[in-house]
Order: sequence, then C-alpha cells, then structure tokens
Amino acid sequence: LYVVHIAAEMAPVAKVGGLGDVVTGLGKALQKKGHLVEIVLPKYDCMQYDRIRDLRALDVTVESYFDGKLFQNKVWVGTVEGLPVYFIEPHHPNKFFWRGQYYGEHDDFKRFSFFSRAALELLLQAGKKPDIIHCHDWQTAFVAPLYWDLYAPKGLNSARICFTCHNFEYQGSAPASDLASCGLEVQHLNRPDRMQDNTAHDRINPVKGAIVFSNVVTTVSPTYAQEVRTAEGGRGLHSTLNFHSKKFIGILNGIDTDAWNPATDSFLKVQYSANDLQGKAENKASMRRHLGLSSSDDQQPLVGCITRLVPQKGVHLIRHAIYRTLEMGGQFVLLGSSPVPHIQREFEGIANQFQNHDHIRLILKYDESLSHYIYAASDMFIIPSIFEPCGLTQMIAMRYGSVPIARKTGGLNDSVFDVDDDTIPHQFRNGFTFTTPDEQGVNSALEHAFNLYNNDKEFWRQLVQKDMNIDFSWDSSASQYEELYAKSVARARAAAA
Ligand code: ADP
Ligand code: GLC
Repeated sequence: LYVVHIAAEMAPVAKVGGLGDVVTGLGKALQKKGHLVEIVLPKYDCMQYDRIRDLRALDVTVESYFDGKLFQNKVWVGTVEGLPVYFIEPHHPNKFFWRGQYYGEHDDFKRFSFFSRAALELLLQAGKKPDIIHCHDWQTAFVAPLYWDLYAPKGLNSARICFTCHNFEYQGSAPASDLASCGLEVQHLNRPDRMQDNTAHDRINPVKGAIVFSNVVTTVSPTYAQEVRTAEGGRGLHSTLNFHSKKFIGILNGIDTDAWNPATDSFLKVQYSANDLQGKAENKASMRRHLGLSSSDDQQPLVGCITRLVPQKGVHLIRHAIYRTLEMGGQFVLLGSSPVPHIQREFEGIANQFQNHDHIRLILKYDESLSHYIYAASDMFIIPSIFEPCGLTQMIAMRYGSVPIARKTGGLNDSVFDVDDDTIPHQFRNGFTFTTPDEQGVNSALEHAFNLYNNDKEFWRQLVQKDMNIDFSWDSSASQYEELYAKSVARARAAAA
C-alpha cells in the first residue's frame, strides 16, 4: 500500500509529545512491512534540522487557497529516520510556521487548516495516488472533510482516509465562520451530523468532522476507545463515536525499539541489556553524580518521571509522589515542562525548594538526551495520569528496566499490570497500579514498590528483566493498522466494481 501521513509532529525533528513518536514509529514499521510510506509536515523554524538528511527544496512551488487568496508554498524534501518527508513552507504574510514553537499560537486553527489544505494540494499537484491518507489529531483533522468536499472531486480520489485521535481533550473547536478560511463551506458543514460542535452549536469541531468524514477512525488504546464512548470520557463526542462505532477502534501504540534500545543507546553512559544489569547500575551512579544527588544510601530506589506537566498527567499527584518518595528515603528525578504558566511556576517553586537537596532534582525543560538517561538510571517510573489515551513513557521505562507505577486508565490499563493482580497471568504482571487518582492511590502503589525493591532483591531483579524483555515494538500494532487500511481499500474497490 501507499500511505501518506499528514501530521503536525514527527520525532525526532518536530516532537512535542507522543504523537511525534507514533508518526515515526508507525511509519517505520509500515515501511518495514513493505509499504510505501511518506510524511507531510509543516516546515517549522524550530525543528531539529540536524536530524533531517538530504534536505532540499523542490523546483516547483505548490499553490494553495486560503482566506480568498492563492499562496505559494515552497516544498522541501528530506529523510527522517529513513522515511521520506515533505515539508511545507508557506509564503504567507503571517509566517504560520515561523513562530519559534509548534503550538499555542492564537491562530493555531488558521495555521493548521492552512497546512491541511496545502498538504492535500501537494498530493494533487504532484500527481500522487496514495491508497491511504492518514491524518492525526485536530491539527490535521481538516484533511477528511477537505478531501471529500474539495479534493476527491478534483481528481485526488485514489485514497481512503484514516484519522487517529491521540487525545480527545484537544478538539480544535472554533467559531463556525473560521472554517471558511480553508475553503470549506460553513453552512454545508455546520450541522449536527457533520462538523457542528455537540456542545456549542455556533462552533465547528475539526475532530468531529474527521470522525464523520474519515473511512477509518482509530484511537491509541482499546481501554481509551471504551472510555471515550461514555458521557464521562467522551468530551462531548461520545454520541458521535457511538453513532460511528463500526469504523472506530482502539489500537495500542508501540514504541520505536531502535530509537529506544538500552543496548545501543548513545545517550547513555553505559549501554546494557536484560542479561547485564550492571550497566544499568552504572547509569544510575553516574546520573546521581551528574545531578548532584547523594550516592551514600545506594540501596535506595531512584524514581523517574518524564512528562508534559498538564492536568491530564496528574500534576498534583506527581507533586505528592515527590514528597512521599522523599519521606520514604528514595530519590526522585523529574524531567518535564508545562505549557500552562501557573503549573510551570509551581514546579519551578518546588525545584528551587530542593535545589540543594541531595535526593530530589527537577529539570523543567524538554531534553531528549536527558530523557534517555533518566529512563536508564531510574529504578521506578511514575505515571499517575488522570486520563491517558495510550502513554508511551511506561513502555519506554520498561524497555530500560524502570518498573512502572501507573494509574489504571486508558493505555496504562492496557500495558501495566500489577504484580499482585490475580486476574492477570503471572508472566504479564509487570508493575504497580492504582485505581483511584488520589494521594492514597499513589501511596499504596509507591509503598508497595519500595517495599519489594528494598526487601526482595531477587524478585525485583526478575521483574526488571521481565519488563526489559516485553515486546513493545510496533510489529503487532502496525499489523492491525495494515489490516484496517487493506480492508478499507478493499471495500472501496468492491463498491467501485
Ligand atoms: P504525551 O504524548 O501525552 O505527552 P506520551 O507518553 O505518549 O505522552 O509521550 C511522551 C513522549 O514525550 C515520550 O517519548 C517522552 O519521553 C517524551 N517527553 C515528555 N516530556 C519530555 C521532556 N521534558 N523532555 C524530553 N522528552 C519528553
Ligand atoms: C497523546 C496522548 C498519549 C499518547 C500519545 C501518542 O499525546 O496524550 O497518551 O501516548 O498521544 O498516541
């Protein structure tokens, strides 16, 4: 199959969170299975240009419509992690992708509806005939209605549209009239069975539009797919998802096991594997020195946490876990940053409070290399999310032998199983879980983990080895996507015959 992903993120060149990891990881896995995979991204000024190979501008520009005018887009092509990527650079006076950050601009709706249309225009003008156009999250959700309303009639009609929602918290809802900028007809789409927001009738909702207009709709874990079909979890879209339930499925993400491999990871002090845990201990020792943490009480566990600091991630529970770890004599390293100013300030306050403490370190920024090092150095990894569509950090942590302590929600519920959970066969029990998202929940799981770490070294060693040997690769999830794509293409062909 020929699959084109249109997305706002791609690791490692333009990554904010897990979406970037998924576009690259799924893309590579599909490519490995023999499919032709291409990615279309905005050309952001703040990308990691050193991670793009052979970047060059195409000779021809792509013309695209926006706000009643035509604009020229320069298109660049390069290779990221072995995948061919097209980068769209609009010659628009508003410098849409020249803002020093990926998201959080006042005109995100405009920037990304512009991009969605320009990406389709690129495919049309380059004469590409993909079997699948796969768009992700609200930023590229516009692709689905744009495709059926404007581009299929223009001849870009070989494709089926797959939409993956990585997080239903972000739906991109905006005043209905804003939709007109990208050339979609507001009156035609601002209807309850199309793009009208289910909770505010003067607004349109790109994610709803993608659910309605895509051929295949996925989210990133089976449990989250159930949760969002309930009134409590669906953020206003549960009725739409239930109505379209036949095309909606949850597929658990994988991780890129080449990028995340402790045996080859060049960001680590020492590489190691499940059969050689001495290397893991050396990373812990060197990280403690590096961060100025004490190494006198060598027996104490190091708890890691790497996250966007947003309410979804249970920031108040992360804060609580820091204090509880300290009370129990453990060490805690947090790597995270927040787009929410008061949360960032709060954690800066905690970082200052502990800046001379030799058990706690908070590093409040995005730092890819340090993230690898923390996964390797930590003994435990805490993810107390309030909700979590999938979550990748628990899987990465396990691959590096850091045992997850997680709240049972969404994809965490599908990937972390408590060592004492009788309903789960022994071989799948891999961490510590709690159900109620409160301080008692965190305490119970954290104390359980500390207790086993301190009092049963052999059990802990086996648990670490078991976690490191779990297959979190994209293989099986990519096969599920492959099957969905193939079925959708076959249905279209049968209907056309
Ligand atoms: P989300 O996409 O909701 O942020 P995921 O668990 O799916 O959560 O993915 C998070 C990804 O971002 C992981 O690869 C994690 O290592 C990475 N990450 C999060 N915060 C940071 C940070 N401050 N520095 C480096 N990497 C980070
Ligand atoms: C979103 C979700 C996260 C998921 C990631 C990749 O950012 O918050 O749970 O793992 O997308 O699908």
